[in-house]
Amino acid sequence: MIIFQGVHKYYSGIPVLQNVSFSIQKGEFVFITGPSGSGKTTLLKLIFGSEFPDEGEIRVANFEVSNIKQKEIPRLRRVVTFVFQDFRLRQDLTVFDNIALPLRIIGEKEKDIRQKVMEVLKEVGIRHKVESVVKTLSGGEQQKVAIARAIITDPQIVLADEPTGNLDPEASEDVIALFKRINTKGCTVVIATHNSDFFKNKQYRVLSLREGKIYENPS
Ligand SMILES: Nc1ncnc2c1ncn2[C@@H]1O[C@H](COP(=O)(O)OP(=O)(O)OP(=O)(O)O)[C@@H](O)[C@H]1O
Ligand SMILES: [Mg+2]
Repeated sequence: MIIFQGVHKYYSGIPVLQNVSFSIQKGEFVFITGPSGSGKTTLLKLIFGSEFPDEGEIRVANFEVSNIKQKEIPRLRRVVTFVFQDFRLRQDLTVFDNIALPLRIIGEKEKDIRQKVMEVLKEVGIRHKVESVVKTLSGGEQQKVAIARAIITDPQIVLADEPTGNLDPEASEDVIALFKRINTKGCTVVIATHNSDFFKNKQYRVLSLREGKIYENPS
């Protein structure tokens, strides 16, 4: 589903990822961890096709992302979605309109959109906020809107960058549990976080970045 083979990434000549190889199978739930600046966000962006490697090959589903044509990117984005650390929601629009956006872009009927948005809001647990303007929501609620928007198109892979970054421990556990449920339905989930509390002493697969290299399941 996701394959990195000998990937190198530099910014202004400074290496961030050096000869990174790993693969993630369909349906896996994986944490990417590592200290600040170790390249977690960069790695997610490489999967998403919003950054490109200087060397090496990246395959995501049927796409050779390391060599993808610009016109193929919209098709890639139907397979893989990204929950950004800063959410990137339209602050002046309602929850409904934010979540409906990806479906409107692909031209779904308004009636089907309403049904899907209500379903996904129930799933993330904020159905009562459907007509609220996003800027009036708490951080945890906005996080859930961002997740709802990322899963509304039924992607095969969801990437999330520090999805618990601004949340208290209880809200954080809630968000991780939500990703687990999404994963149980068959979606591959990749979460970047520096917070090891989520996977310490648990059975999760963890890929750890340190000084440009990637390590499997650090102790
Ligand atoms: N667009 C860019 N231009 C130049 N340097 C960049 C760019 N993006 C990232 N970097 C550098 O690459 C390195 C890795 O950044 P990245 O954001 O991937 O780290 P991170 O592990 O996500 O860190 P954090 O935990 O703070 O979010 C950092 O040294 C950063 O300064
Ligand atoms: Mg980051």
